[in-house]
Amino acid sequence: MTSQTLREARKYEETAEKIIKKEDRPGFHLSVRTGWLNDPNGFSYYKGEYHLFYQYYPYESRWGSMHWGHAVSRDLLHWEYLPAALAPDEAYDKDGCFSGSAVTLPDGRHLLMYTSVCKKHLENDVFCDIQTQSLAVGDGIDYEKYAKNPVLDEKDLPEGASNIDFRDPKMWQAEDGTFYCVIGSRPADGSGQILLYTSKDGFEWKFKSVLISNRNRFGKMWECPDFFKLDDAWVLLANPQGMLPKGFEYHNGDGTLCLIGDFDEEAGTFTEKSDQSIDYGIDFYAPQTVLAPDGRRIMIGWMQNWGTCSLRTPEEPWFGQMSIPRELSVKNGRLYQRPVRELDEMRCNKVEHLNVSFSDIIRLEGVKGRRVDMEVVLRPEEGQEIYQKAAIRFAQDDNFYTALSFRPRESILKVDRKFSGSRKAIIHQRRSLVNSTDGNLKLRIILDRFSVEVFVNDGEHVLTATMYTDQSADGISFFADGKVNMDVVKYDLY
Ligand code: FRU
Repeated sequence: MTSQTLREARKYEETAEKIIKKEDRPGFHLSVRTGWLNDPNGFSYYKGEYHLFYQYYPYESRWGSMHWGHAVSRDLLHWEYLPAALAPDEAYDKDGCFSGSAVTLPDGRHLLMYTSVCKKHLENDVFCDIQTQSLAVGDGIDYEKYAKNPVLDEKDLPEGASNIDFRDPKMWQAEDGTFYCVIGSRPADGSGQILLYTSKDGFEWKFKSVLISNRNRFGKMWECPDFFKLDDAWVLLANPQGMLPKGFEYHNGDGTLCLIGDFDEEAGTFTEKSDQSIDYGIDFYAPQTVLAPDGRRIMIGWMQNWGTCSLRTPEEPWFGQMSIPRELSVKNGRLYQRPVRELDEMRCNKVEHLNVSFSDIIRLEGVKGRRVDMEVVLRPEEGQEIYQKAAIRFAQDDNFYTALSFRPRESILKVDRKFSGSRKAIIHQRRSLVNSTDGNLKLRIILDRFSVEVFVNDGEHVLTATMYTDQSADGISFFADGKVNMDVVKYDLY
């Protein structure tokens, strides 16, 4: 039975989406149907389609009481909205249906697990969240909350773990049929840990172990974990709040952390061998992965960061979009990401400029646009000493642009949107230490109306940023301080 709260949300979104023009949205990145979107949820392949749910407040473009929005796609790039899937309509989730995941049950039904939030009154005007985990079962459109919700609560926590910070279950089913689930938690030391739960049927869950403890190394509370085997390694994704930078790894605030290591399945413990950021730009958080039918591990993230949400005002009819889905691989102990290969199908109007030598500002015939897939290879001019700097400016008009600049002597790649037309004094640039020898660098730049994603050296580093420059600013130019030689292959994406 659909609740009144869910019916209202479904009715509202159908009307409200009509005031948003197609050209005011990203072209191939999923944006919220109406109102506000944050984390991707329930990313799964079900009945022949990719399902993506998301943290959703339909009524305004600000965070509010969380629903789950819902969209489906066959190619991860063209999305169709479905009616909102969950609303905060039960006593145990009246303050929000927070992030969670989805699996297919052996009988073919779709099972969602999400964090159910209910505020507890402490004293006077002081409230705190109580976070538990709940289930909903459905057919890919309508979901019914499980009668025995919540299925995990305070009594399923290990000693010292907080019932205030206990969220974001990510489930999967192992080959022997057992269901597993990792959940973010805050232990007594105030930092983060990831808890591991198991279930025989997806409905009755048991605490197994503390998969890994942060011990105050990477930020504080770890949100939105994901855990999977990839190319013979185990990968843990987590999103620590309150990160401190470590050189050029991580940035202040909420960050995306990737640990690669070993999983002791008996003991239920994970030991990391390496750590890295997942994204080195400004706007990327809370990613979630799906295992595609062809075996690819595909990740999608919220193309935003809590610290920079005020780039847009709540007066806008929509706020929040997802990153481009990215295929993951592990090479030499490092996570690599590249745009899903389905994007190649959207490439058109190829323009190629090879061996371009320049030492000033140039524009190239046919190279412009805001829905662009552009490969750029930079190198020093033969026989010349290494250049000081090379830069690519895009979303450019007479007044505004966003830039990517590379200083080969320091091996620093920087994304900078301070001239993108923003009215807010928030973080607008970020530097990444990339691998380059003698000024050689390979970039793939994906532009989609309000964003740029830069894949460096075939996905060794990725930098993501949003920018809301007027769409008429569609210029692209190149700048060199010193003598640069470059190849540019550019496509429009339609
Ligand atoms: C991460 C997060 C999650 C939570 C959700 C609430 O961005 O804080 O931990 O479930 O957002 O919307």
